[in-house]
Amino acid sequence: MGQAWGFGRYGGPEVQEFFDRPDPVPARDEVLIRVDVAGVNPLDHLLRSGLVSGLDGGRPFPRVLGMEASGTVLARGEDVDGIEVGDAVFGFALTGGGTYAETTVLSAPNTARIPAGLATTVAATLPVAGTTAVDALDQLGLPAGATVLVNGVGGGVGLAVGRLAVGRRLRVVGTGSAAKREHAEAIGVRFIDYAAGDVVAAARELVPDGFDGIVDLVGGTSLRTVAPLARDPRNVIAVGDSSVSELGGRPVERRLDRENLERSARLALDGLLAPVITAVHPLSDAPAALATVENGHTSGKVVIKVT
Ligand SMILES: NC(=O)c1ccc[n+]([C@@H]2O[C@H](COP(=O)([O-])OP(=O)(O)OC[C@H]3O[C@@H](n4cnc5c(N)ncnc54)[C@H](OP(=O)(O)O)[C@@H]3O)[C@@H](O)[C@H]2O)c1
Repeated sequence: MGQAWGFGRYGGPEVQEFFDRPDPVPARDEVLIRVDVAGVNPLDHLLRSGLVSGLDGGRPFPRVLGMEASGTVLARGEDVDGIEVGDAVFGFALTGGGTYAETTVLSAPNTARIPAGLATTVAATLPVAGTTAVDALDQLGLPAGATVLVNGVGGGVGLAVGRLAVGRRLRVVGTGSAAKREHAEAIGVRFIDYAAGDVVAAARELVPDGFDGIVDLVGGTSLRTVAPLARDPRNVIAVGDSSVSELGGRPVERRLDRENLERSARLALDGLLAPVITAVHPLSDAPAALATVENGHTSGKVVIKVT
């Protein structure tokens, strides 16, 4: 039995609640973990709201929030390979375990061991923000020296993309509100404050010939405003807005498998995928952690330290 935080029905923050639940029993391809750290992501509140109910497989209520975590393996299903009881791991709770909890189940094919030297707090942010950054930049496949615009550089995925792109020796420009400037410039990103004036004009001043690639984390009107800055519309990769196809761009192609997790962990060890963790909350403070992300203007990654 352990404490968990989730929701008893779809709705706003008012439907959120703490409750006790028995330790989930791992299915054949799952591992039960004692959660150390859970990452907080926009998808968590979208699932709670019911807006993306097609993604949660009609699970019974109450549901536990959270889809990524690091922790220690307590038990494993009979088909699990390469992960043993006692291992420190990180990965996705894809089958509905929820990670804002003392214990949960992770999907073993979407879970990897944490390499020596990598902090569990960092590992907990790699499944969503870390591998998304890797996937978006892989999809662009730009050579060193190419230019990339990161629209929404100040959030969890944006700063990960920015750091990784700088590490690949791309010339990186990022947009965000004024509070994000320091974080962005600290990782080598040239920054445009989108509230301070015309973003397109500011971007053209920095990169007059247009960008070789754009990674968009904002979507909607903002995506439509910046998309024409790409030299080739196919090189507009949107992470959260699939309507990018209407502009000739492409939604990010995600790889959630263990190999990609292991790769992101190696990049993190090498300092090339260094998540900017701006807030660490205890589980009792999970409402504040999710509220920070739900307001839409998060800086870097917010995590919940459970253990
Ligand atoms: N497809 C996938 O697998 C996948 C994976 C991860 C994330 N996502 C999606 O990708 C999006 C970003 O995720 P995230 O975790 O990075 O979210 P996040 O941490 O909440 O960051 C979003 C950032 O966008 C900034 N922003 C908002 N309006 C902006 C504008 N007009 N121009 C520039 N920046 C703006 C926000 O702060 P400021 O406005 O203060 O700068 C914030 O820093 C979300 O929609 C999420 O659901 C999808």
